Amino acid sequence: MKNYYPEIPSPAFILEEKMLRNNLEKLSYVSKEAGVSIILALKGYALWKSFPLVRQYLAGATASSLSEAKLCVDYMGSKAHTFAPVYAPEEFDEIARCSSHITFNSLSQFEKYKDICKQYGVSVGLRVNPGYSDVTTEMYNPCSPNSRLGIPASELADGLPNGVDGIHFHALCENDSYSLERVLKSFEEKFGHLLSSAKWVNMGGGHLITHKDYKPEHVIQLLKDFKKKYDVAVILEPGGAVGWQTGVLKARVLDIVNYGENPTAILDVSFAAHMPDTLEMPYRPNVRDAFSEKTEGCYAYRLGGNSCLAGDFMMPYYFKEQLHVGDTIILEDMMHYTMVKTTTFNGVTHPSIWIEHEDGRDECIREFGYADFRDRLS
Ligand SMILES: Cc1ncc(COP(=O)(O)O)c(C=O)c1O
Repeated sequence: MKNYYPEIPSPAFILEEKMLRNNLEKLSYVSKEAGVSIILALKGYALWKSFPLVRQYLAGATASSLSEAKLCVDYMGSKAHTFAPVYAPEEFDEIARCSSHITFNSLSQFEKYKDICKQYGVSVGLRVNPGYSDVTTEMYNPCSPNSRLGIPASELADGLPNGVDGIHFHALCENDSYSLERVLKSFEEKFGHLLSSAKWVNMGGGHLITHKDYKPEHVIQLLKDFKKKYDVAVILEPGGAVGWQTGVLKARVLDIVNYGENPTAILDVSFAAHMPDTLEMPYRPNVRDAFSEKTEGCYAYRLGGNSCLAGDFMMPYYFKEQLHVGDTIILEDMMHYTMVKTTTFNGVTHPSIWIEHEDGRDECIREFGYADFRDRLS
């Protein structure tokens, strides 16, 4: 098996700076052509050592907690657009200090904190439930009728309360602009009466603008038409699209056991601890030089994680060559949502973080050890 990234020891998350720049260029093109602000959703991608590059292209970041808002101020160099389902009173002053915009999920939270927002000069928004989403996985659909996210239209029949500048919705997850068009139709039907008094509309995340099949010209026209019709500023806050296909998790085969129908290559990484979405969503990550489906003439191996969780494995992948202890396994597309969700479950060693710079230089930006595990627990 080929040893990809030979200078970088396994296990490691590796950001390819060039790929990140490609994504940022696509996002910035849409932003400029459509005349909208595109900001980074930190919940999806927060590798802050790469923010000097991100800042060249995007207009800031959106935060979903006090810590993310602080990260935005410290490393994006701008105040955050903040939305959280709820704000704790002991944190709110600091959130307001770190935010240019704050969106509330309920009228009660708006009433509770509106004076503090005024004091800090924060522009206030309300999150609404547009009532339509193409997202079929319930776990990721914020627009179901019983969703706790977003104020329903019935609560805003009398218009926007005094002191509210903006409206926020989030209804997409790795979708294209045609999904956005359908959401906008429903949003306008339910909330169109509020738009004459709004200064801005934040259309959330889930816009997979950096996917190869995404049609930038379609979204540009859609957003231009919307802005012209309602005379509002428009903000998009994708996370996944920024880190989309910008890097990998490099792993290594530490053992091969022959206990079941197929041999299992046990790796120096864990699906549970280092790629939790693969078990939670669930999805099968692509593995370089391996097929995900049964393929004649190939060797089948389950990939096993190094935690003790029985379910910490992936069903067989099909490799052209037999695997051996020491072989490199490259798990593709591991920059967005993966890194922000890792844990030190079982105390298994957390992969280090590397950047492959555009000039070919590899830089280790973080290594983890015992102290990282210990200090989270007491
Ligand atoms: C309110 C809000 N904004 C933005 C995002 C980012 O979405 P994505 O990373 O899919 O673009 C999310 C994701 O859950 C979200 O909940």
